[in-house]
Amino acid sequence: MRAPIIRSKSELQNLTRGWRQAGEVIGVVPTMGALHDGHLSLVAAAKEGSDRVIVTIFVNPKQFNDPKDLENYPRTENEDARKLERFEIDAIYVPGPDQIYPEGFDTTVSVSGVADELEGEKRPGHFDGVATVVTKLFTQTMAEKAFFGEKDYQQLQVVTQLSRDLDLGVEVVGCPTIREEDGLAMSSRNLLLSDRARVRAPRLNEAMERAAERIVAGEPVETVLAEARAEILAAEFNDVEYLELRSIGTLKPVTDGKLPARLLAAAPLAGVRLIDNIAVG
Ligand code: PAJ
Repeated sequence: MRAPIIRSKSELQNLTRGWRQAGEVIGVVPTMGALHDGHLSLVAAAKEGSDRVIVTIFVNPKQFNDPKDLENYPRTENEDARKLERFEIDAIYVPGPDQIYPEGFDTTVSVSGVADELEGEKRPGHFDGVATVVTKLFTQTMAEKAFFGEKDYQQLQVVTQLSRDLDLGVEVVGCPTIREEDGLAMSSRNLLLSDRARVRAPRLNEAMERAAERIVAGEPVETVLAEARAEILAAEFNDVEYLELRSIGTLKPVTDGKLPARLLAAAPLAGVRLIDNIAVG
């Protein structure tokens, strides 16, 4: 069954109001499209946990700090709708920019603390853009549950904080990262990797897994991370923007070596910025 594609806020709300009045729990899966099995795992979780499921597809200009990245972002709406067929969801919401940011729109939702470092530092304005669009998608869909991937671990924490702080009434559910067989975390941006870069890409996750094992075995964190950075650079990544051990949830630096923790990294490869994170301990 093809779910209806809905392009306007009013049409969406005609549906969702009825569902809410009937006491049905609406689950939303916010995406920017170019759907892969990582996204689809969120859709499966939403089907499990809600009465009605809406997948949103909106390439949100406000969260791109690099105009080239926005321009190059893959857009595959027909394919996406086809991939969603087997889940029998209730609606695909594909708003035009004017449905999210109509003329005169002038509000920014900004989360502090957990949003400040790592991605927040490397991509100024990124999490303001995410928090603003997610707030709008939550209110427009009238969802009570929202499904996000651990792939974007910091984003998951930012959205959890946001929903709690603003009493949005949305339970944020985190879902595990889905990977290719060689360990590369699935990402829409992987489509932009050249064949040569695609072969090297899993080396990021490999270096992180090795580092995690050594940290769990009690080796000094700084030494292990320095060696992992060197390994990633040796695999021809252009840079290691960060590779850091952080506390679960708060993402504060781990100073006392306390585990479990989270290892997070961002590293561009042939101009494509890859991010990944894994549990440590
Ligand atoms: P996008 O990158 O399309 O991702 C949509 C959702 O899919 C996010 O919750 C993301 O964490 C999850 N996801 C991506 N790759 C995954 C993988 N390999 N395994 C599991 N989940 C994965 O994240 C965004 O869009 C945007 O910032 C958005 C939240 C839609 C706001 O614009």
